[in-house]
Amino acid sequence: MQPRISMIVAVANNLVIGSGNELAWHIRDDLRRFRMMTEGKTIIVGRLTFEQLKNAYESRGKPLPDRKQIILTKNTEYQVGLPKCYVCHSLEEALVKAKEIESDEVFVAGGAAIFAQALPFVSRIYMTKVELEVEGDAFFPKYSDFSKVLSEESKEENGIKFRYLILERV
Ligand SMILES: NC(=O)c1ccc[n+]([C@@H]2O[C@H](COP(=O)([O-])OP(=O)(O)OC[C@H]3O[C@@H](n4cnc5c(N)ncnc54)[C@H](OP(=O)(O)O)[C@@H]3O)[C@@H](O)[C@H]2O)c1
Repeated sequence: MQPRISMIVAVANNLVIGSGNELAWHIRDDLRRFRMMTEGKTIIVGRLTFEQLKNAYESRGKPLPDRKQIILTKNTEYQVGLPKCYVCHSLEEALVKAKEIESDEVFVAGGAAIFAQALPFVSRIYMTKVELEVEGDAFFPKYSDFSKVLSEESKEENGIKFRYLILERV
């Protein structure tokens, strides 16, 4: 069976998703949700986001968690040397690889470059809508086609309001 191709993202009201190759906020509940949703599944990430995630886990002395990772880079020499990690050199190649290794759900997980290119290929977005206007240098693309709300849950952590939305293309 073909896997669903989805996106998972946390985005501010002004479409900011990151600043200086970091997230622009710290919401523990959202990080937990990301881990829970993608565990045992496959994620597609750009090289910069992959390195950010890897450094975050390694700095806590933990191995990379249990999920298959497809890393996009133009660099044909780039090697990862970790289990369940696959390096691809184009989005098309990444999507073919994802369908080969995943039967359930593939999550395009950023960053900005990858979200922008992959949006036409996804049918669902798991969005954490962060009720902030923040400065940043990485943005999520406009997603007005995704106006069907499958579910919505409001949350708050350390004074930051956010909503978990599951959106589908109409
Ligand atoms: N809020 C969220 O949910 C979320 C999630 C993830 C990331 N982020 C944020 O997003 C920012 C990073 O985004 P970014 O756009 O700078 O970096 P990125 O998308 O993580 O990675 C960009 C890199 O991916 C590779 N790449 C891009 N398109 C490619 C293609 N078509 N074929 C092959 N390789 C390709 C290139 O690697 P090479 O240079 O090696 O060729 C490029 O430099 C950070 O601020 C991060 O915190 C936010």
